Parts: sequence; structure tokens; C-alpha cells
Amino acid sequence: MERYIIKGGTPLVGEVGISGAKNAALAIVAAAIMTDDKVVIDNLPDVRDIKVLLESIEEIGAKINRISENCVEIYGGTINSVRVDYEYIKKIRASYYLLGALLGRFHNAEVALPGGCNIGSRPIDQHIKGFKALGAEVEIEHGMIMTSAEKLVGNHIYMDVVSVGASINVMLAAAMAEGNTIIENAAKEPHVVDVANMLNSMGANIKGAGTDVIRIKGVPKLHGTEYSVIPDQIEAGTFMFAAAATKGDIFVKNVIPKHLEATTAKLLEIGCTIEEYDDAVRVIGPEVLKCTHVKTLPYPGFPTDMQPQIAVTLALSQGISIVTESIFENRFKYVDELSRMGANIKVEGNTAIITGVDKFTGTQISAPDLRAGAALVIAGLAADGFTTIDDIVYIQRGYEKFEEKLRSVGAKIEKVSTDHDEQKFKLKIG
Ligand code: UD1
Repeated sequence: MERYIIKGGTPLVGEVGISGAKNAALAIVAAAIMTDDKVVIDNLPDVRDIKVLLESIEEIGAKINRISENCVEIYGGTINSVRVDYEYIKKIRASYYLLGALLGRFHNAEVALPGGCNIGSRPIDQHIKGFKALGAEVEIEHGMIMTSAEKLVGNHIYMDVVSVGASINVMLAAAMAEGNTIIENAAKEPHVVDVANMLNSMGANIKGAGTDVIRIKGVPKLHGTEYSVIPDQIEAGTFMFAAAATKGDIFVKNVIPKHLEATTAKLLEIGCTIEEYDDAVRVIGPEVLKCTHVKTLPYPGFPTDMQPQIAVTLALSQGISIVTESIFENRFKYVDELSRMGANIKVEGNTAIITGVDKFTGTQISAPDLRAGAALVIAGLAADGFTTIDDIVYIQRGYEKFEEKLRSVGAKIEKVSTDHDEQKFKLKIG
């Protein structure tokens, strides 16, 4: 099993380039199979979740041509099945986007129920409500979601909760429904906008993405396109907090600063210096970090996917911080691991009360999920001594070349598979 070995205590300094947004790319790959024509997707992050999704659409007959590490051509004209029970697909949450895409195009889809990170119960009732409102029947049997419709007809849909996944999924299906669909209380995340832009470039007629009302005029057919995925705001934010926690100075390139506003605001509050450029941000960590309070919220609020990274940073600040998680119920699983490194955090319900400590000390820990795993890497980079992080397969789901990018800003980190390699790293680094 691969793991990271980290020698902490070095401020991270230098430049890092951000990859395409995983969560946008997952929906964009699904959207690509809604036409017979060729779709070219550029700035596609080379991460495990995307590989699994590409393999699964190949399984149902799509042709994939890899142009480069970050660019693929997808041909959906050869799809010969609407049943996706590919064994790995349930490991990725976004497998549900294949439901919306296949339902929209073929009026029929059968997809294994999604899994993904274990960060609490993750219902899909709003996706189902949306599909039903468009005229589809939906059933769950033997771990599969099955949905079909004689025809899809646009409707007025009010989402009971703000859901990124449900907003995108209903948008996918409604893009090819008859007539008009209005999604109220839609999610406003940048990736919702990116998927709408991509669908529009295929001939869809979607307006209002990025606000809480999305209006879709169904079209009978979508055509091919060439599309470049937006930068990953969560990957960018992870490096920004890594700069803060290690008292470093990182120039984070290829970002859209507007998407990072919630993260930037919190970094300023805790004493960082931020320089903003057209497509880059520079974060300089202070000698002493200040405490603050934060609550996760749908965009443009502070993202739940950045909650573990800010908590790790606040655990090294001066004073008491309160972190409230309002999106997922089980997102503090990293706290026990962090406590073993010396953090002082008390969790009560959906709130973590963090009393800052001067330093962490390295030990052996495990990544409990994708973002918490990345946050524990930040903890290891800030800690005294060596930290070993197991279960890095979670981190590889969503961070492209994570250890390489970290090394490029001076991190002492290696991916190893054996005790022997771990010892070698320790001897080399000293
Ligand atoms: C997406 C992201 C994930 C991020 C999350 C919130 C992907 C692949 N994943 O997940 O990284 O943490 O947005 O920004 O893009 N809910 C329901 N019923 C539903 C759907 C959701 O009650 O049908 C609830 C969820 O339990 C949660 C909240 O709505 O409390 C938000 O979830 P949602 O935005 O749907 O998250 P995902 O799309 O699964």
C-alpha cells in the first residue's frame, strides 16, 4: 500500500500550477456522452476519479482517445448500453452524473449507486425528485438506480436543499427535455457554471447558472465541442493553507481569484498577506497565525471541501477558533489523527473548538477521506519530525501529482510502498 512519508518543519516557498477542477470535470465528462459527435476536453485533471469515470464510459461503448495527460477526445456515438455497473464506479460519488446524462440522451439509465468519501450520509433524493419532475420513473434495485421515461418534459423544480450534484444532474437531463425547466434554489458553485457553459457550447440553452434560478430551454440534439475545464478552487485553496500553516510563501498559478474569495478572506483574517493577480494569488504566511471562526456554507460561502485544511491551520494559531460544519455531518474524522500530532481540538456535534498549539509533532496517521487526507499532509509538512500518512489512495482521487507539486515548493515528501523505501527517505533527508 502506498503511503506518504514527510519530514516537516520547512516553510513552503515557490510557485505551483493548479490543475483543472475535478468536480467540474466529472460532470463535463458525463455531459460529453450526450452527443454522437467528438467532444474534446482540455485541462482535465489526471486524477483517479476521472480515470474511473473515463473507464466506465468506455465500458458502455464510448471511445476515448487520450491526446495528452490532460486532454481527451470522447466519442459518444458508439455507446451501446445504458447500464453502468462497472465495479469501480460506485467508489466515486459523481457516478450519478451518468444518470442525468444517459437519461437526457437515451431516456433510460441504470447506474450503480454512488459511494465516494465517507463524510456522512449523502442522500440523492433531490436528484430523484428532479428526474421525476421531468417525467422519469426512478427505482432502486440491487444497488442500482434505474430511471427511464417515455419522454422528458421540462418542469418547475424547487430544490429542498442547495445541492451541487442535484442541480447539475437535473440540468444534464433537462438540457434535452421538451420545453422549459426552471431549477429554483440551485447551487451556485463555479463548477455548476462550468458545466452549464460546456453544455451551452454543445448547443444547449441554459441561462442563470451561478444564480439560484437556472432556466433551461430543452433542445432535441447536442453537438460536439472543445472545452477547457476551470481551475480547481479546492486544490488552489489547499496550497494556500499549506503556505499559511508552514509560514511559507507560495505563488499559486492558473486560478480564478474570484472563486477563492472565501478562502482568501479567512487567510487575511488569520494574518496572511495576499497578493492577487489576474490568474494567480500569492500567499505569505505570518510568523504567528491568528485564530478565527468559520462556518461552511454553499458557494459563495466557505467551502466544506476546505474545512479540514483551515482547521489544521487554525490548530497552529494563537487563541481559540470555532469551526462549524453545516453541509456534511461526519467531516471531523481527521481530528483524532490530528490530536495524535499534538492538536487540541474538541468536537461537539457539528462544531470543532480548536485551541491553537505552538507546534505539531510527526507520527503515523491515516487519511480518512480525500480533503481531510490533504489537510493531514499540510499538518505533516508543518510538524516537527517525520509523519507517515497511510491510505493515500483517498488523496490520489482528487489531487494531481500532489507530492510532485509539493516538492516543487520545497516540501520534503515522498510516496513510498515499503518500509525499506521509507527508511531510505529518512536516511536521505536526515
Ligand atoms: C459536491 C462535491 C463535494 C462537495 C459538495 C458540497 C462533487 C463530485 N462533489 O458533492 O466535493 O463537498 O458538493 O460542496 O462535486 N443533499 C440532500 N439530498 C440530495 C443531495 C444532497 O439532502 O439529493 C444534501 C447533502 O447531504 C449535503 C448537501 O445537500 O448536506 C450538499 O450536498 P451536495 O451539494 O449535493 O454535495 P455533492 O454534490 O454530493
